[in-house]
Amino acid sequence: MNAPGSALSVERLVVSMGAQQILHEVSVTVPERGIVTVLGANGVGKTTLMRTVSGVYRASSGRVVFHGQDITAQASHRIVALGLAQAPEGRQVFASMSVRENLLLGGAMLGREDFDATFAQVLDRFPVLRQRLGQQAGSLSGGEQQMLCIGRALMSRPRLLLLDEPSLGLAPKIVRQIFELVTSIRAAGTAILLVEQNVRQALKVADYGYVMEGGRIVLEGPGAELRDDARVRDAYLGGA
Ligand SMILES: Nc1ncnc2c1ncn2[C@@H]1O[C@H](COP(=O)(O)OP(=O)(O)O)[C@@H](O)[C@H]1O
Ligand SMILES: [Mg+2]
Repeated sequence: MNAPGSALSVERLVVSMGAQQILHEVSVTVPERGIVTVLGANGVGKTTLMRTVSGVYRASSGRVVFHGQDITAQASHRIVALGLAQAPEGRQVFASMSVRENLLLGGAMLGREDFDATFAQVLDRFPVLRQRLGQQAGSLSGGEQQMLCIGRALMSRPRLLLLDEPSLGLAPKIVRQIFELVTSIRAAGTAILLVEQNVRQALKVADYGYVMEGGRIVLEGPGAELRDDARVRDAYLGGA
């Protein structure tokens, strides 16, 4: 049931941890070159969804289809090699490694030529990382670590990028940069699945959005429609 032109199709995904069912038949579609956002309060299952799509967690039932290929049971490194990369929640970088080493790891599966070209592209996108290539990743500011986390994901040349709360806890100026980045990564041809606390900004950049509650999708629609939806306004936009 993977519609033509869709980068990702999550079909009735069920995920359980021990006896607790976390995701209840969650279905989400990301079109090629689309930006799709998943919104919802803490603990509703957004990160579980991202980690299952990227092969870190296993589904009990349902399917994850990437460009027409069933990847539900694939190992996470295989999924990255197919072109699906994740910048995980909490801007995880290898703190004791240099910025350069972190980026090398992200592009480890590329041949020499592709690697050099991609490395140059990523540094053009993140000039701040170019200045810090030899520095330990753990010594970067929060915003710089987030840029490194996204840059590392981009090193695998993904066709789809999963971003789990990239703007969380960052200063307003950096938050603006992150959202500009999301738009420019899509303009370069990569589809994006974005989990965000910053609902207002997320709905501004997203073509389409889903709202999760208690492990279920309870509302979905085009970004502009969700922004005007009374339920979204009351619950996530402070009634504004
Ligand atoms: N590895 C895990 N083991 C057990 N429970 C988990 C695990 N990961 C997440 N959960 C539970 O799943 C629910 C959803 O968590 P999560 O996906 O992190 O939500 P969100 O990202 O929306 O804040 C929470 O109740 C959380 O406690
Ligand atoms: Mg989360």
